Amino acid sequence: MNRTCPFDPAPELAELRRRPSISRVRLDFDDSMVWLITKYEDACTVLRDTRFSSDFTRPGFPARLTSRPPGPGTFIRMDPPDQTRLRGLLVPEFRLKRVQELRPMIQRIVDRLLDEMIAKGSPADLIESFALPLPFVIITELLGVPDEHREFFYETTNMIGDQSISTAERMTVRTKLRSFLEELVSSKEAHPTGDLLSRILERREGAEVSREEVIGIATLLMVAGYETVASQIGVSTLVLLQHPEQLAELKADPSLMDDAIEELVRHQTVTDYGARRVATEDVRVGGELIRAGEGVLVVLGSANRDESVFADPDRWDMHRGAREHLGFGFGPHQCPGQLLARAQLEIALNTLFRRLPDLKVATSIEEVPFRGDMFVYGVHRLPVTW
Ligand code: HEM
Repeated sequence: MNRTCPFDPAPELAELRRRPSISRVRLDFDDSMVWLITKYEDACTVLRDTRFSSDFTRPGFPARLTSRPPGPGTFIRMDPPDQTRLRGLLVPEFRLKRVQELRPMIQRIVDRLLDEMIAKGSPADLIESFALPLPFVIITELLGVPDEHREFFYETTNMIGDQSISTAERMTVRTKLRSFLEELVSSKEAHPTGDLLSRILERREGAEVSREEVIGIATLLMVAGYETVASQIGVSTLVLLQHPEQLAELKADPSLMDDAIEELVRHQTVTDYGARRVATEDVRVGGELIRAGEGVLVVLGSANRDESVFADPDRWDMHRGAREHLGFGFGPHQCPGQLLARAQLEIALNTLFRRLPDLKVATSIEEVPFRGDMFVYGVHRLPVTW
């Protein structure tokens, strides 16, 4: 299913939402059949029900990334109780109070990146100069990655979500990243430095989490907390520039940005095909019986355009109060980093438009390369002037 407008999900999804029951579709990469969940209510039903497993290694799981099971600690691909045990180690790091404490650091990095971009002069690629480095630097600060290793880290993590490289290449990159993080964990064990990784290592004994699992958690954070935020910043900037009247309101009153971000994450669901499951028992959903062993693809980007929940869903309206969107998932796997993501988006977008009030896209929209070839949607490049 291809998009016909880069800002909207494929039109077939809207047709499927109008059908009374859920549908089965063929996956293009291996010809297997999966249930496609396109409606909001069905998406919530599947995502909250633990009879639907996230375990990649179960037969029938709609896996594309790799034929090899994810390493220990990758709890996004696990089920309770193991998922709960590992997630519990991370959750305290992303509570509201902790994220509030991180705000000055986020602001400092945003200001520095914009200083550098402005110093180099207009035009610039906003993705390369701002959207990618921001969450990257933040995650490396959180993990306590030494400065001299950041370049290597940057290159390897950028390759992981690229669908144009082969599975073998992706596995090589994953292995490299994992062995780098292994060394990092060893150094934190020897010399704790008060960062997230050092604290997790201290906490792991009581929580019965192995060292291998901590390495897996660090890898997962890099993968889950970097490209998602970068993509959301890029495509959100573009959407705001496409809506000059609402952008003018935001510039006049930056406190409106919190609501605008909810609507941005709803309207531009960068992890639109991000939630995959396999049934472990027969379960009835949306008028059909999903049998044990059958794969399910929850299309978050479609659920977020469900007209029974969001009136006139294709319209971007920052005043709609879109807080119940599924852009960060739902149920036991709901994104634990969402408060950090929201803080980054708010500080990034408010600062960008305050410092560069005349920001414009430097090309026509037709020339902007969208990330239809990546696991996380967004734009590859966004040439801007100011
Ligand atoms: C705009 C940015 C982001 C979006 C759109 C996003 C979206 C999501 C979604 C949809 C899921 C659920 C996947 C599923 O149900 O299978 C998820 C899980 C996850 N996210 Fe995020 N995320 C973002 C930012 C972050 C950040 C900043 C972090 C951490 C630094 C993070 C860490 C995680 C982790 C660890 C999981 C796995 C949770 C679990 O399986 O229990 N994410 N994210």
